[in-house]
Amino acid sequence: MGCDRVQLVGTVSFLLLLSSAQGWGKDGHAIVCKIAQARLSTAAAEAVTKLLPESAQNDLASQCSWPDDVKREIPWSSSLHFADTPDSVCSYDDSRDCVDQRTGIKNRCVVAGISNYTNQLLEYGSYTDSPYNLTEALLFLSHFMGDIHQPLHCGFVSDQGGNAINVLWYNETQKLHHVWDDSIIETQFQKFNDDLGDLVDAIQINITKVWADEVEDWEYCSNNEISCPAIYASESAEDACKWAYKDASEGSVLEDEYFFSRFPIVNFRLAQGGVRLAAALNRIFDTQYPVLI
Ligand SMILES: *[C@@H]1O[C@H](CO)[C@@H](O)[C@H](O)[C@H]1NC(C)=O
Ligand SMILES: *[C@@H]1O[C@H](CO)[C@@H](O)[C@H](O)[C@H]1NC(C)=O
Ligand SMILES: *[C@@H]1O[C@H](CO)[C@@H](O)[C@H](O)[C@H]1NC(C)=O
Ligand SMILES: *[C@@H]1O[C@H](CO)[C@@H](O)[C@H](O)[C@H]1NC(C)=O
Ligand SMILES: [Zn+2]
Repeated sequence: MGCDRVQLVGTVSFLLLLSSAQGWGKDGHAIVCKIAQARLSTAAAEAVTKLLPESAQNDLASQCSWPDDVKREIPWSSSLHFADTPDSVCSYDDSRDCVDQRTGIKNRCVVAGISNYTNQLLEYGSYTDSPYNLTEALLFLSHFMGDIHQPLHCGFVSDQGGNAINVLWYNETQKLHHVWDDSIIETQFQKFNDDLGDLVDAIQINITKVWADEVEDWEYCSNNEISCPAIYASESAEDACKWAYKDASEGSVLEDEYFFSRFPIVNFRLAQGGVRLAAALNRIFDTQYPVLI
């Protein structure tokens, strides 16, 4: 039995490693989707309930990592999780950066993915049946809206958004990308002795109290768009330079100094992802939703 347990723990950590190679880990995606679902209008909440598989029991967060789970079965989808930039370039450019690096095909990145699945969902409730599976469209949109807010999803091509940079996270060998997907969130649970629900609560309190003014800015795009993924990608590229890559080269030892200065950035990006996902879903599904400026 002891042996089985060791083997099980090994398998589970291996699966965790695999699943978190790209994208916020399961916790990050769940946080974004919990924040979003709590902010839906009645009409949007109804549409989400109808689109979710029955097994989800109306919990969007439980499904938000699905696109990571099917990356291998749907290989064309893997380039839609990120949008990397040339080395040391701290902003996103559509024509330069939205490309599948393996095939060279243009318009294949997280920004295009968000537009694609937004457009598909706009067919919800129309008289003709959509040729697309709108359940999948909802899960892709919800997932990609999270990914695009993870700064290292708009990192540099040459180091694969920090996947090729090995650091020590306290006493653990980690890829820098993984530190941003998972470790900074997990270390919050350890240091502050809380769990996912507590962190969601703390972020939600900050959205209404501390970050309230900025919420307005987040919710509205400049030109009547449902969302502005190119802007979100540029914000991530900027945060990647300013926070993620800074003082974190190959072999760096990252400890309290890095953790305490970065976790508020991680939380703020999770908050923005959730608020913007909710705003997009409200605009898609709810004709009553306020017209944008
Ligand atoms: C758009 O969605 C369809 C259906 O899932 C998919 O075949 C296509 O590759 C997607 N394109 C982009 C840019 O996301
Ligand atoms: C839509 O996609 C989901 C998830 O892949 C699948 O379970 C479901 O059967 C699909 N629905 C249809 C009508 O194909
Ligand atoms: C790292 O340190 C913690 C205690 O601070 C310990 O529990 C853990 O086993 C260590 N991990 C490694 C890989 O040494
Ligand atoms: C809430 O915002 C304050 C001020 O920016 C920050 O110090 C705190 O860490 C934030 N809380 C969370 C959970 O991010
Ligand atoms: Zn992803």
